[in-house]
Amino acid sequence: MIEPNPSLASLIDSASAAVAELSGRAARWRAAAPGRVNLIGEHTDYNHGWVLPMAIDRYTAMAAAPGVPGQIRVRSLAMAEESSLSLDQLHTPHGDAWMRYVQGVVAQYDRRGVHCPGLDAAVVSSVPPGGGLSSSAALELATAHLLEAVTEQALTPAERIQASVQAEREMAGVPCGIMDQTVVELAESGQVLLLDCADQTAHSVPLGSQAPALLVIDTGVSHSLAEGAYAQRRAECEQASALLGVKTLRDVRPEQLARLKGEMAAHRRATHVVSENERVRDAVTAIEQGHWDRLGALMTGSHRSLRDDYEVSCGELDLLVDLATAETGVYGARMTGGGFGGCVIVLVETDQLEAAADRISGQYDDRMGWAPGCYRVQSGAGAREICAAL
Ligand code: GLA
Repeated sequence: MIEPNPSLASLIDSASAAVAELSGRAARWRAAAPGRVNLIGEHTDYNHGWVLPMAIDRYTAMAAAPGVPGQIRVRSLAMAEESSLSLDQLHTPHGDAWMRYVQGVVAQYDRRGVHCPGLDAAVVSSVPPGGGLSSSAALELATAHLLEAVTEQALTPAERIQASVQAEREMAGVPCGIMDQTVVELAESGQVLLLDCADQTAHSVPLGSQAPALLVIDTGVSHSLAEGAYAQRRAECEQASALLGVKTLRDVRPEQLARLKGEMAAHRRATHVVSENERVRDAVTAIEQGHWDRLGALMTGSHRSLRDDYEVSCGELDLLVDLATAETGVYGARMTGGGFGGCVIVLVETDQLEAAADRISGQYDDRMGWAPGCYRVQSGAGAREICAAL
């Protein structure tokens, strides 16, 4: 069954109510940021390649009121926890993993001369946590916009993205690329974002009214990217570039890959990155021409490449992709995000969406013993301050 999607207005209301309860004062500032799916272009961002993500209509919403000087208290309805941070400990990683994303952004703004006063805040989210839908980037950018509302000091979008990327790298210990924070900040509703990660230029590509539906299915397993596999892939890509004498794998042509034959890991990783970059550009053409069969085939091809060459998939993701691609009305499916668990995205005819979701989750349940979360996602707008009642 496809899970209901609470409106952004109801998330903002819940965050406002929670902060009023926490601090005894009415919420004064509000902000929200979306999660994202990546349509195609996985593990290419830190190789200076191309990615094609979109923000989704699921959000992390925050509300805040003035708090005790020198302290930030945050109640997370998503984690059912409350955490507090002393501002004189701003640069020491907090004990609560989720709080580090808030802390990291506040610390980055602090370094840029934007100082957070004492604050009580609440966070509510409809982005499934740890599901590869960038719940962390959503929390970072919601914090950034909230902080700007509180301090009445604004960074540029590029600075905001940079601050969030650095927060993630330093506080969460993941040497991530720029894709998640960039799309969460810059996304426009109804569009996917073609991002060139070499010069960080972004172009919106309209999906059009005839585009099929996008179904997200959550495997229910999450293997933390901080455990080292992500960093290891990055290192293997750097090794491949060094062996080929190029700065990044973006600069490699398919015919050069044969030179890596003796280096198995480097050869496989580079094969994925080079082929994935081609798939991204082909996917843009497929979207512009409304060739959904072609887009679906590219997505499924991307999954195979991530499974076989990049080796970041897992049994649960592969099972969902196999189940999905066997369904009527499905154009293609792939894992989305860093991998090792999380979600798959399925491109499916809109009138087949419900039936396909039911059958896929039923079969997954039979095999795994639990029903996966199913979400219909639509292209949403980027992070922002919420000024008035929605
Ligand atoms: C994670 C990272 C991104 C990107 C993807 C893989 O989501 O945060 O920067 O590298 O993995 O495409």
